[in-house]
Amino acid sequence: MNGTYRPASRDRWCRPAIQCLPQRLNWGTGYFTRRVCRPPVGTPARVAIGPNLPSPTAERAPWAPPASRLKHSAMSLANVAYNAAFTWSGAKIRSLESQMRQPLFNQHPVEMGLTSGGRAAVQALSAEAKYRGQFGAAFPGDTAPISMANIIKAIAAFERSLISGRSPFDRYVYDDDPAALSDSEKRGMALFFSARVGCAQCHSGINFSGPVIYAGHRKERALFANTGLYDVDGRGGYPAHDRGLIDVTGRAADMGKFRVPTLRNVALTAPYMHDGSVATLEQVIDRYARGGRGSPHQDSRIRPLSLSQAERADLLAFLGSLTEPRIRRRPAISMTRVLRRSRPRPAAARPHRRSRRRRRDGR
Ligand code: HEC
Repeated sequence: MNGTYRPASRDRWCRPAIQCLPQRLNWGTGYFTRRVCRPPVGTPARVAIGPNLPSPTAERAPWAPPASRLKHSAMSLANVAYNAAFTWSGAKIRSLESQMRQPLFNQHPVEMGLTSGGRAAVQALSAEAKYRGQFGAAFPGDTAPISMANIIKAIAAFERSLISGRSPFDRYVYDDDPAALSDSEKRGMALFFSARVGCAQCHSGINFSGPVIYAGHRKERALFANTGLYDVDGRGGYPAHDRGLIDVTGRAADMGKFRVPTLRNVALTAPYMHDGSVATLEQVIDRYARGGRGSPHQDSRIRPLSLSQAERADLLAFLGSLTEPRIRRRPAISMTRVLRRSRPRPAAARPHRRSRRRRRDGR
């Protein structure tokens, strides 16, 4: 997949910045360098701050104010370089750089809590010779290489390097390796793309997230949909504090619409949905099988499905085949540490830990 779709890198400085900075950055925690902010202790397996979990307090940078509770589960950063838009309902946030300004500087709610344009973070990084050297090398010719603008660029460049394209699914589809998927995973894949089950009507494209941008294709619009997760008033309403795209556009038709998330590595990123309200992939599949809540705002593509237990297991196996084993192994960005210190892994993540032979025979 990597060879076919080159990320539409926005900036020339992207490469050198990547080479200089990744070793101190934690894949998935959403926090970068302990001088800006450290990952919260006990961060859940979800790729960052989980739903309604306070953002880090004990280990926050000294200048950061107490964090607020956040309404959203943090989205996966795998292949974020290809996103047509960012955040769960931010149709207008179209670059990683503009997305980053929210968590860095937001005061309502406070996430990372930088104030005064991040002056304290800039000073803290400037005090370390290592960062002076790295930023100098990444931004040659810049008289003040450690600036908030450059920190944002460097973090965005790092995020664009989080490419995930070597899952068993990729080896099966892009490398033509027929043995890459088990029979169950192949059956699940057929269901996923079938007209009857229809997951790929929304979870399409290389990221299973609808339209993506890449070199040569830069103008795509992100896809938002209401999956019938809530109906609090019998008229399809979502909880008032978090109603999705309608809160951005003000259009009634956008009630409950959230951006279609990537399904890459989804077995590693429980809990699910924008508010983390669904604990496991089995429960996600059960919800789709029930056809949401049948509310008026629900997308017409979400409707009751008759799925046997065996078919649900196959679908689950297919979602597991979107996990890239390498993500666990790359030390600089490995999620293993995050996973190890948190809750037990969801069932769908386990097959890849077993040997391939057992996995194929066992299912
Ligand atoms: C109408 C478009 C649409 C269809 C069809 C659809 N999805 Fe989704 N899916 C979404 C949206 C939008 C979300 C996020 C909803 C939210 O958080 O409120 C989502 C969320 C998910 C999640 C949670 C991902 C995460 O990171 O939290 C999984 C897993 C998932 N879908 C799998 C499936 C499967 C399997 C099918 C087929 C049975 C399917 N989807 C069909 C639009 C769709």
